[in-house]
Amino acid sequence: MDAKYLVGIQEIDVQHAGVFAAIESLQRSVATDVEPQALVPALRKLQDLLLAHFDYEESFMGSIECADRREHEARHLELRALLDECVNSTVPAAADGSPAQVLGRKISDHLLEYDAKLGYAVEHLVTNLRRHEAAEKF
Ligand SMILES: [Fe+2]
Ligand SMILES: [Fe+2]
Repeated sequence: MDAKYLVGIQEIDVQHAGVFAAIESLQRSVATDVEPQALVPALRKLQDLLLAHFDYEESFMGSIECADRREHEARHLELRALLDECVNSTVPAAADGSPAQVLGRKISDHLLEYDAKLGYAVEHLVTNLRRHEAAEKF
């Protein structure tokens, strides 16, 4: 996983690395399997990982002060729907690009636009905590 996707929260970074590995595996299947149905196991694996990851991230957001939590959760809902569509489609390999490419691009964009803010929110909390601790010393 490219370092630009690191958010600085260990568990989330580990989960993201697993998601990227599943996307790469799906993309390899796309490159080698001509039969669209052959992609279903790789898509299901990616779906399992992502659904568990979204649940974790949403629970994490609920435990900290996170600015656009509702909007972030709404984007997860869209990705959940897209995953469902890809897994359940009878023709998963669309003519205008494989679902792996579409999913990969949307998930990468999501990480950079929304998940990155989780890292900033934690940094903000830590900064406030340090300030509070420093103020308490006087
Ligand atoms: Fe997210
Ligand atoms: Fe994420």
